[in-house]
Amino acid sequence: MHIPIITIDGPSGSGKGTISRKIASILGWKTLDSGSLYRIVAFAVRKLGLDINNESIVKNLIASLIISFDAANDGKQTIFLNEENITNVIRVENCGIDASIIARYSSVRAELMVLQRSFVEAPGLVADGRDMGTFVFPRANLKIFLTASLNERAKRRHKQLKDLGNNVSLTAVSKDISIRDKQDLERTHAPLVPASDACIIDSSDMSILEVSEEIIELYKHSN
Ligand code: DC
Repeated sequence: MHIPIITIDGPSGSGKGTISRKIASILGWKTLDSGSLYRIVAFAVRKLGLDINNESIVKNLIASLIISFDAANDGKQTIFLNEENITNVIRVENCGIDASIIARYSSVRAELMVLQRSFVEAPGLVADGRDMGTFVFPRANLKIFLTASLNERAKRRHKQLKDLGNNVSLTAVSKDISIRDKQDLERTHAPLVPASDACIIDSSDMSILEVSEEIIELYKHSN
């Protein structure tokens, strides 16, 4: 049976996660937040005091991690690592920067690719990340590349962090996002680029609902 897939790639703070959950809830599909997998590995590396600059240590760690996702009704997931609830701790900006460091390693990407593909489940999957349309699901039914201005992305991420109780300045968030943009764009393996057949949407001046509806319209016409 063919299981349909919509991929949503884009830089940090472009709204990928929120939009993916919204679309999945409208269509009744599953979601894959691939960035959380990179964050989980980065979190485990730090927690165990391992060397984040050593690719083989990071890669070898992955097989030993017991990761589970518990989906709530609103589509938000509770994430467990070896039974510890790490849903919020992996959202801090330092963990995002560490995730972006380990995301440069091709062996880590290959290992996580297998895990990401195991998320495909009927009746459909909305997968968000940086390389969903280019590498992980190159035959997806619809590929979206979601962007927004740096200023807008920093404002959104700042609000998300504040809502989680993290007191960081907007300037600091903007700086962290710029660092990650650079790391994700310039890496050799699976850099952040739109797939050649992706539809590009700039969400700077659009609401979550407007973007979600546009994507669902595009999906309906893609079949
Ligand atoms: O989407 P996010 O902010 O949670 O992602 C954290 C980091 O993980 C991001 O800066 C780069 C990396 N990442 C990646 O390389 N490929 C993906 N598909 C998703 C995330």
